[in-house]
Amino acid sequence: MIKKAIGVFDSGLGGLTILKALRRALPHENLIYFGDSANVPYGSKSKQAVTRFSLDIVRFLESQGVKMIVVACNTASALALPTLRKQCRVPIIGVIEPGARKAVASTQNGRIAVLGTEGTVKSNAYAAAILKCNPRIHIKQQACPLFVPLVEENWTKKPAALLIAQDYLASVRKHRADTVILGCTHYPVLKKMIARVLGPEVTLVDSAQVVAQAVQNFLQKNHLQETAGKGKLTVYASDDPARFKRLAACLLADKITTVHLKKLNA
Ligand code: DGL
Repeated sequence: MIKKAIGVFDSGLGGLTILKALRRALPHENLIYFGDSANVPYGSKSKQAVTRFSLDIVRFLESQGVKMIVVACNTASALALPTLRKQCRVPIIGVIEPGARKAVASTQNGRIAVLGTEGTVKSNAYAAAILKCNPRIHIKQQACPLFVPLVEENWTKKPAALLIAQDYLASVRKHRADTVILGCTHYPVLKKMIARVLGPEVTLVDSAQVVAQAVQNFLQKNHLQETAGKGKLTVYASDDPARFKRLAACLLADKITTVHLKKLNA
C-alpha cells in the first residue's frame, strides 16, 4: 500500500524547524515540504496575498495526495487558517494554538511576550489564543521583521544580528516577561542569540515539539499513523531550488538530496 504523506509548508526555510521535530517524532511518515521561496517574506504582506499563496500551496499538496497539512508558518496560520480549513478537503493543523497553550502552562509571573512577524502581531492571533487559555495574562507583542531575512540569508551569527536582537528585545525585557513565544518558525534558528539577550531566567517557547505532538495525537486518534518503514522526505521550493537546498541542509543539519521546483500560480 502507498503511504500517504503529511504536507508541511512555510514561506521559506523557517518551517524546517517544524519539519525537523516531525521527522524525529514520526520517523515512519512520508513528508512533503513546500518552501515558498518566491514569495518570502509573508510577514509584511497583506492577509489577501498570504491567503492566496497559502491556498495555492494547499491545493498543490492536496494534488500530491497528502493525508493532512501542517501550516508550519505563524503568519499563514494567523491570517489564512480559517479560509484554508473551509476550502481544503484534508485536515489542517496550524502552529499558533499549540504554542500559546505551552506558553500559558510555562509562565510563573503571568507575563508573556510574543515575537512574530508584522502580520502575526497585527492579527492578534496569539493574544486571542493566550487569553482564551487564561484571561489574566499580561501580553506584550513585538514584531521582529528583520529576523526572517537574517535566517534566509544565513546571517544568524553576524554581529549585526545581535544588535538587531538587542533592539527588538528591549521592549520584552521592559515588560518583565518570564516566557517568550518564538512566534515565527524562522526564529528558533536565532534561539541561542535571543536567549543570550534575554538571560537564562526567561523561558523561550518554540512550538516545533508541541506541533509535532499535536500531529502525532491527531494521527493516532484517527488511525492514520504509520508504524513501520523509514519515512521519505520530498522537498519543493517555488524559486531557486539550488539555493533552497544549500540553506536547508545547513538548517536541518541533514543532507537533502533534491529540491524540486514548483512554481505557484498566485
Ligand atoms: N516563518 C513564517 C512565520 O512563522 C513566515 C516568516 C515570513 O515569511 O515573514 O511566520
